Amino acid sequence: MAHQLLLRASSQLLTLRGGVSRRGKALRDVGLVRDGGLLIRDGRIAAVGKQSEVERAWKKLPPKERRATREVDAGGRVVLPGFVDSHTHLIFPASRANEYEQRIAGASYQGIARAGGGILSSVRKLRAASAADLKQRALANLRQFAAHGTTTVEAKSGYGLDAASELKILRLHRELVGANFSSPAAANSRRRQPLDIVSTFLGAHVVPPEYKRNPDAYVDLLCRKIIPRVAAEGLAEYCDVFCDRGAFTVAQSRRILTAARACGMKLRLHAEQLARTGAARLAVELHAASADHLEKVSPADIRALAKSDVTCTLLPGCCFHLGLQHYAPARALIDAGAIVALATDFNPGTSPTMNMQMVLSLACTQMRMTPAEAIAAATINAAYSLGRAHRIGSLQAGKDADLAIFDVEDYREIPYYFGVNHCWMTLKRGEIACQRQ
Ligand code: NIG
Ligand code: FE
Repeated sequence: MAHQLLLRASSQLLTLRGGVSRRGKALRDVGLVRDGGLLIRDGRIAAVGKQSEVERAWKKLPPKERRATREVDAGGRVVLPGFVDSHTHLIFPASRANEYEQRIAGASYQGIARAGGGILSSVRKLRAASAADLKQRALANLRQFAAHGTTTVEAKSGYGLDAASELKILRLHRELVGANFSSPAAANSRRRQPLDIVSTFLGAHVVPPEYKRNPDAYVDLLCRKIIPRVAAEGLAEYCDVFCDRGAFTVAQSRRILTAARACGMKLRLHAEQLARTGAARLAVELHAASADHLEKVSPADIRALAKSDVTCTLLPGCCFHLGLQHYAPARALIDAGAIVALATDFNPGTSPTMNMQMVLSLACTQMRMTPAEAIAAATINAAYSLGRAHRIGSLQAGKDADLAIFDVEDYREIPYYFGVNHCWMTLKRGEIACQRQ
């Protein structure tokens, strides 16, 4: 017999129905339904709309199925599609709180990196860490993502930078889907890790120390050995490159991404974060799925991105955490017609947060996105950038029942009351992934 769940009594239900790659004014269209309800059958949305309509659909079910229906009373809260966090560095060995303190005292992110800290300090620790330890840490972090209303995360490797360590990370991406939580007694969660993970290979994060004198030899290793191996084992759907000052040049990035595409991977790019290098244009040239960061894009880059199908994934948590004033030009990108998404960039160096609600707050106050635009960017457009907009990112019949319920009366209050976790319940494919007591 099918499993049913009937959700009632939301004050606002944001369906995000309509187009799957939102540009310009369409980004504001959140498909708001007042007094909304939702019927879930076997993990998929069977009906969504006014509570009265959804109840009519439910009444048409056979009596046996009606009796077996689980009911959730949203109690006048706000229902959204679960957040799709389309840019995270999920697996890393330890925090870098020491560098946080150094930066507060005046050191810069790039200065710390040049002195061998930054990404390379995470690499040293990750190479020494056991897969079991990394897995426990990732499980704890995934629990936090779910607790804040996220139902799908993209996850990048990139703290290994040698074949064995990169494969260790990518295999964990696979293992973590449906993995058992070690302490089933932990409150607020099912025993199995419920979130979906989209795996991205970021072996080109920075040049590892052993290739410091010959970065092109590392590019060769990536193109000839590691990328084909990752592809052969089916360990990553996407390949990403940190194309920036202090990381990889546009020419090196082009080689790496072309090799990855030849092996069947789709492409993403860290672009124009620290310096304007031409990485955004490379993303357009290679028809990448996403160009991420974009703090330093030029007006001509904005025009090129707007004409393309590349999703512009903005990561305001980085500027916030690094204490930088210059955020990505979200308004100009949206108004020019680019496809804009938002993500956390969860990582130990520049954005240690799993909280998409805080990312919405930053998008609104620092980048002048409206709450509606920010929510569409964090759901349907992010799903589009991951090639999953047909399954997730909006609440429509037939799609996965991935949703989050927030303890507010008006969706604008989610970014408005900032720095607070408003998430009351998260459902993944119709199962309660976590619930606040
Ligand atoms: O997206 N820019 C490169 N990668 C990360 C930072 C990684 C780190 O500092 O550990 C980012 O900001
Ligand atoms: Fe990143």
